[in-house]
Amino acid sequence: MFGYDIGISGGVTAMDDFLIKFFPAVYQRKLRAKEDNYCKYDNQYLQLFTSSLYLAALVSSFAASKMCSKLGRKPTIFVASAFFLCGSLLSAAAQRIWMIILARVLLGVGVGFGNEAVPLFLSEIAPVQHRGAVNILFQLFITIGILFANLVNYGASKIHPWGWRLSLGLASLPAAFLFVGSVVIIETPASLVERNQESQGLSTLKKIRGVEDVDAEFEQIKMACEAAREVKDPFKTLMKRSSMPPLIIGVMMQVFQQFTGINAIMFYAPVLFQTVGFKNDASLLSSVITGLVNVFSTLVSIYGVDRVGRRKLLLQACVQMFISQTAIGAILLVHLKGSNSLDEGLAGLVVVLVCLFVMSFAWSWGPLGWLIPSETFPLEIRTSGFACAVSSNMLFTFIIAQAFLSMMCHMRAFIFFFFAAWIVVMGLFVLFLLPETKNVPIDAMVERVWKQHPVWKRFMDDYDGKEGVKNVGMII
Ligand code: BGC
Repeated sequence: MFGYDIGISGGVTAMDDFLIKFFPAVYQRKLRAKEDNYCKYDNQYLQLFTSSLYLAALVSSFAASKMCSKLGRKPTIFVASAFFLCGSLLSAAAQRIWMIILARVLLGVGVGFGNEAVPLFLSEIAPVQHRGAVNILFQLFITIGILFANLVNYGASKIHPWGWRLSLGLASLPAAFLFVGSVVIIETPASLVERNQESQGLSTLKKIRGVEDVDAEFEQIKMACEAAREVKDPFKTLMKRSSMPPLIIGVMMQVFQQFTGINAIMFYAPVLFQTVGFKNDASLLSSVITGLVNVFSTLVSIYGVDRVGRRKLLLQACVQMFISQTAIGAILLVHLKGSNSLDEGLAGLVVVLVCLFVMSFAWSWGPLGWLIPSETFPLEIRTSGFACAVSSNMLFTFIIAQAFLSMMCHMRAFIFFFFAAWIVVMGLFVLFLLPETKNVPIDAMVERVWKQHPVWKRFMDDYDGKEGVKNVGMII
């Protein structure tokens, strides 16, 4: 659902029928595009169409965090799907610009609730040795959603004048899946115990592990829950010194994820490909290609994350992303001047470079941006901490969505160097500050990770949680 929303807006905003109906000024400018390629889509309202969703998601992730702790992960996912359904139906039927923005806001609330609950749900039900891989299913389905949206856009752009309605309305399909799914899934053992339903928590754990002997793991969950229950105000606890290491890591992973520049490409790939001189059809097709690369490269991460670990994937990707962003920037700088377009060979090379970039993002910062914050907070601040990470993601996604087209207009090819510089910063961050969490049980992070790290251990002296470390040996 989240992926579909990400993938659909770029294609829709490149469709003439949609522009004529809601953004006639942008359409006029597009007709005169020969004046300046980089600036033809620079319009705050058009960007608001894309970005309003993330603003709504940002705000609602805090409410979602409360609901997640008080009522559980399952009902939170259910609420998300209800918002998604309403939003997708309204956007397909929209007649005025406010309707379309309101629909984006409803979808955004869905994203806020869904993105809070789903990664936590996955990390909590996964057995420790497969936690990375299970959690990355979240990212895998984001990429499938994006690809599905790219394909729909490709087909719908040929249907005049209402193809865009089909694009937006088909979001109700994943929304309906999520709706049904949220009714049939189980609640996580940690959430059940957290809300005093111990015996149900135990039987659920036996069920999802498929064995009777789950005592060690259950004991660990119970201890983590005990500590969680003593915390009256999780957001206040989140401000304690000992909460800073996972909080800084969780938030920065999300901020950096957005500063790779991925959404400049995900949202605006069709627009970007038009900028380098492709016709409408060819640019939509190129987005389908990058969408495919995105899905298949995520599979690499599912395979690698619990084997090679988080740090190596992130560092390798920084190198690959840096090279591709700088090369794209250099090609555009030298060869694309104002209204000219690139010759065919170079435009093809840009598509290849974009694919190399997307590929490395897809096996690193994409999935790990969600995985790491979902697994590093102790239970007592897990939902509140994760909410901060989700809302940081939304805030920076919003900023990129709102600013990218204007940035492209003003910075021109230098925008790619801007992202490349950020990639250097995040590489250094991983190198010096990010601990490896591969194979560490989720409720033993404080003892095994934070208290051992050369930098972060200095923050841990006021930690008074009761993390279930005693049984860790038995579980591993
Ligand atoms: C990010 C999205 C991005 C997507 C691309 C996700 O992890 O949060 O912002 O569009 O990956 O696959």
